[in-house]
Amino acid sequence: MKTTVFNNAEKIIEGWYWAIRSAELKRGRARALSFLGRELVLYRGQDSRVCAMDAYCPHMGAHLAEGKVEGNSIRCLFHYWKYDQSGRCIEIPCQQQTDFVPQIQTLPVEEKYGLIWIWTGSQAKMPVPCVPELEGHECDFALGKRFTKACHPSVMMINAIDSQHFNSVHQLSVDLNLEPAEIDESRILFKNTTSIPRTRWVLRFFSRFYSDALTYILCYWFASTGTVTIGPDFLHFHILFALRPTRDGRSEGQPIFVTRKRKGLLGKIANRFLLLLTRAVSYYFARGDTLIFKTIKFDFRAPIKADLPIIRFIQHTERQKTVSWGLVEERDQIEPVTLKFPASAKN
Ligand code: FES
Ligand SMILES: [Fe+2]
Repeated sequence: MKTTVFNNAEKIIEGWYWAIRSAELKRGRARALSFLGRELVLYRGQDSRVCAMDAYCPHMGAHLAEGKVEGNSIRCLFHYWKYDQSGRCIEIPCQQQTDFVPQIQTLPVEEKYGLIWIWTGSQAKMPVPCVPELEGHECDFALGKRFTKACHPSVMMINAIDSQHFNSVHQLSVDLNLEPAEIDESRILFKNTTSIPRTRWVLRFFSRFYSDALTYILCYWFASTGTVTIGPDFLHFHILFALRPTRDGRSEGQPIFVTRKRKGLLGKIANRFLLLLTRAVSYYFARGDTLIFKTIKFDFRAPIKADLPIIRFIQHTERQKTVSWGLVEERDQIEPVTLKFPASAKN
C-alpha cells in the first residue's frame, strides 16, 4: 500500500498530543520540551495556566526555558525581553518604543488526566481524547510508565486491531470481528461483533456476563491516541494509549487508566483497586508485543481479509489533515508587528 501520512514521521497530523505530566511543571517554572521534532518552551504562569511556545527568543535565539517566569509572562535571560501568554513581546528594557518586534508562535494547551496536552495547530478544533462511553462523565485516572518504542505511532496503533496476533502473540483464542465506524475526519471507532465461543466450560461461564458481543471497543484520535474498552457488561476497563512520534519515527507513549468516578470513600477505594487492575491488564497486553516493536521494519506487502480493519485505519489516517510543522517553516509565516510598549515598561 502506498501511504504518505501513515507511518511517516515527517507528516504531523493535526490534533492533541500528550506533552508532559502536569506535576512536572510547577507554577512559576519553565522547561524545555522536544515535541514532535520541534523545540518548545512550556511555562506555568501565576494563574496556573500552562503556555507552550517556540523555544527560541526572536531577538537572538536564546532558549526561553533559561528565562524567568514573571507573573503570567516569561522573560528571556539574554537581554530581558518579556513575552506574554499569547507570545507577544510586551517589554524591551532598553527601549520603550519599537516598530519591529516579531511575535513568538504559541500552541493551544489543555490539561487532562494529569497530563499537559498540546494541539498541533493554531486553533484547537477538537476536545482532548477521551473514551467514547465516558464522554461527559467525571473520571478517576492513573498514569502508567511512559515508554519509547522503535517504531512510528501508526504501527503501534494498528496492533490493537490486528486480531490475528491475539492468537499468536498473546495466545488468546478469540475470533474478533472489528466493525469500523468513522466518527469524523480525526476519529475512527472499531467495535467487536462476535460473542464468546461457548466451547469450554470456562468460556460458557464468562459468556453469562456479556449480553451481546464480547466487549472490545477501540477509538482512535488523530491516529496517535487510542482508547481501549474491555470487560463484562457490569464492569468496563478503559485504557488510553497516548503516543507521539519523534523526528526519527519512534514513538513516545504514555498509558492512561481511566474509570468512571464513584461516590464516597468506598467508591474511592473501589476505583483505586479498579485502576490497579486496569494497569495489570495493560501490562499483560503490552509485554507480548515489546519484542516485535523493537525490531519491526513495517512493510505491509501482503494484506489478507483478516487485515481489513488495519486497511480501514490506514485509509482513515491518510485522509487526516496534516500541519506544516518545524521551526523554520513556522518562523517564515510569522508576520512582524508594530508595538508601542506601555508607559510602565522600563526604559
Ligand atoms: S535573545 Fe532574548 S532578549 Fe535577546
Ligand atoms: Fe498486542
